[in-house]
Amino acid sequence: MSTFTLEVTDVVDAAPGVRTLTLARPDRRWLPSFTPGSHLVLECGPTVNAYSLHGESQMPEAYLISVLRSGSGQGGSGWLHARRPGDTVLARAPRSLFPPVQKASRYLLIAAGIGVTPILSHLRAAVRWGHPVEVHYLHRPGRGVHLEELRDLAGGSLHRSTDRVEFRAALEQRLQRQPLGTHLYCCGPESFMDAVCEMAAHRGWPAERIHTERFGTDVLEAGEAFDVVLSVSQKTITVAPGRSLLEELEGQGIPVPNLCRQGFCGECRIDVTGGIPLHRDHYLQDHERATNDSLMCCVSRAASGPLEVPL
Ligand code: FES
Repeated sequence: MSTFTLEVTDVVDAAPGVRTLTLARPDRRWLPSFTPGSHLVLECGPTVNAYSLHGESQMPEAYLISVLRSGSGQGGSGWLHARRPGDTVLARAPRSLFPPVQKASRYLLIAAGIGVTPILSHLRAAVRWGHPVEVHYLHRPGRGVHLEELRDLAGGSLHRSTDRVEFRAALEQRLQRQPLGTHLYCCGPESFMDAVCEMAAHRGWPAERIHTERFGTDVLEAGEAFDVVLSVSQKTITVAPGRSLLEELEGQGIPVPNLCRQGFCGECRIDVTGGIPLHRDHYLQDHERATNDSLMCCVSRAASGPLEVPL
C-alpha cells in the first residue's frame, strides 16, 4: 500500500480531549479530492489508525482530522496528540466507506460525540450542493466538537442536545416526519448507532436509506480464546482473548494484507474452510456473512471452532 508524507501545519484543541490537526503536503501542492464521509489512514508510530476527514473535500489544500485521545493515550490517538507543527505523518490515500447517496432528496445527519466528524463532511457537501439537510448532534456538556462550523453551515437546521432523553424524543419525531427519499447518516458510539437504527427501522425506514459509520468509535470486547487450524502450514494456533487472528498470524510469520485493523477496509479478508466465524467487522454484507466462508481476521473470531483457514 503506497503512502505519502503529510506535514502537520496546525494543531488546535477543538474540545476537551479532542485535537484538530491540519495536514498538508510538504510542498503545499493540492491534495487529492475525496468523497464526503471519507477517512484517512495514518501511520501513528507503532499503529495504523483511520480518521474521518471533515475539511474541504474538493481540491483541498490540507486535510483536517479531529482526534479524540482515547484510553491510556499509548495508542495512535496519543501519538497524534503529541504531534506539533512541522512534524510529518505517513498517510494512505483517502478511502470512502460512508459516501452520500446522490439521489437522496434530503439528508438527515445524526451524530454523537466525536462521531460528528464525518457528519460535518456530509453537511458541508449537502450545503454546497443545495440539498435539504438537518443535523442532530448529541454531546456531553462542554464537549461539543466543531459547534461553530456546524452552526454556520446548518443554521436553524442544527439540533443539538446534551440530554439523551430529550435528544431521543426529538429524533423520534423527526424520524416520523421525513419525506420519502430522505437518507439517514449516523455516526457515534456503537450503542448510539444501534439505537438510532432501531428507532428508524421501527418507523419503517428501509435499510437502504440508513447509513452508519462505525469507524473506530468503540473498542471491541476481548472475546474468548479460539483455535485456528492453518491447513497449508499444517499447524494449529490459539488466538488469546484480546489478541486478533491477524496478530497471531503475523506472529507466525504469515503476512496478511491489512489497512485499518478495525474491520472496515476489507483488506485482511481471508478464506475460511472450516468452523463458523464470529463476524465483528463492518465490511461484509449480510449475505456474505451468512456463507461463513471468509472473515476479517483483524477483528473477527470463532463462534464455533476450531476455524480452519488455508494459510
Ligand atoms: S485490516 Fe481492515 S478490515 Fe481488517
